[in-house]
Amino acid sequence: LRTLKVALLGCGNVGAQVARILLEDADALASRTGARLELTGIAVRNLDTKRDVELPQELFTTDAESLVKDADLVVELMGGIEPARSLILSALRSGACVVTGNKALIAQDGATLHEEADRAGVQLSYEAAVAGAIPILRPIRDSLSGDRITRVLGIVNGTTNFILDQMDSTGAQFADALAEAQRLGYAEADPTADVEGHDAASKAAILAALSFHTRFALDDVYCEGISSVSAADIAAAKDAGFVIKLLAIAEKLTDEQGATGVSVRVHPTLLPRDHPLAAVRGAFNAVFIEAENAGELMFYGQGAGGTPTASAVLGDLVSAARRIVLGGPAGTETTTGHVAALPIDAA
Ligand code: HSE
Repeated sequence: LRTLKVALLGCGNVGAQVARILLEDADALASRTGARLELTGIAVRNLDTKRDVELPQELFTTDAESLVKDADLVVELMGGIEPARSLILSALRSGACVVTGNKALIAQDGATLHEEADRAGVQLSYEAAVAGAIPILRPIRDSLSGDRITRVLGIVNGTTNFILDQMDSTGAQFADALAEAQRLGYAEADPTADVEGHDAASKAAILAALSFHTRFALDDVYCEGISSVSAADIAAAKDAGFVIKLLAIAEKLTDEQGATGVSVRVHPTLLPRDHPLAAVRGAFNAVFIEAENAGELMFYGQGAGGTPTASAVLGDLVSAARRIVLGGPAGTETTTGHVAALPIDAA
């Protein structure tokens, strides 16, 4: 059996689980892939950081550059723009396939990375970047590629869904529900990216790009978080038969002159309590898609957490490895624009 070298960049919650699964499930992954996936190293900033998962010490290195140079497959789970961006570009240029969970980087600079991947004829995939464990990007890109998606509605941030759900079910104030989310480890230590909608906005830009075959800059996404939603707002919505959810919305709209564009936005939204997304409780995520021929579809699952998100990373890794083994086309997402992004006030 052929061996493919896998370099892992980053060993946080998700990275540590990816490493564990690669080591523990090596035989099963080899039989499904047609190649052994050999974890050659894990690049970290600090070798002395204590990690929840026990992993062989000799795998750790601070020299990410060298690790990338020698790899067939690079898994980037460091987060942030730099050095992740430079390392991914250098991996692609050296002919490695790249799997990343870096939503901020893909939302900001996905087009450049795709161009580089296409030039090198390698695969760039990032299923873990949107809605954690939920298989959503590949279904949009592949399964629905013969259809026309008209609208995507997503609960794509677990922290804010947990907070709004707590407020709805217990009458809690925002600050108390946020404290509970932090106590349970859902929210980041600095939860601004969650509660102000920035995390969801990155995911909305990625969903919109794949659904509408168009490039979206983060600036194209209208973004409003949940920090000003009060217990009184939630109660009033409830009395009227609605629930308030933070939704990422991407939809095709046609103006009075017949011009078509796509509106992409994140904001607290009143949903009828019998809408399928209203049933998404706690820190779960879900994405509801409307397509011309398929009609309505919904994808549900865990949107965060080490093991669920690692599941999505491993899926991308096996898929990329299979393509290398079979020598097939790289098949990256194409986001060459043919639908305009609407100005954000057109929503
Ligand atoms: N902070 C994010 C969430 C993690 O709460 O959904 C996954 O991106």
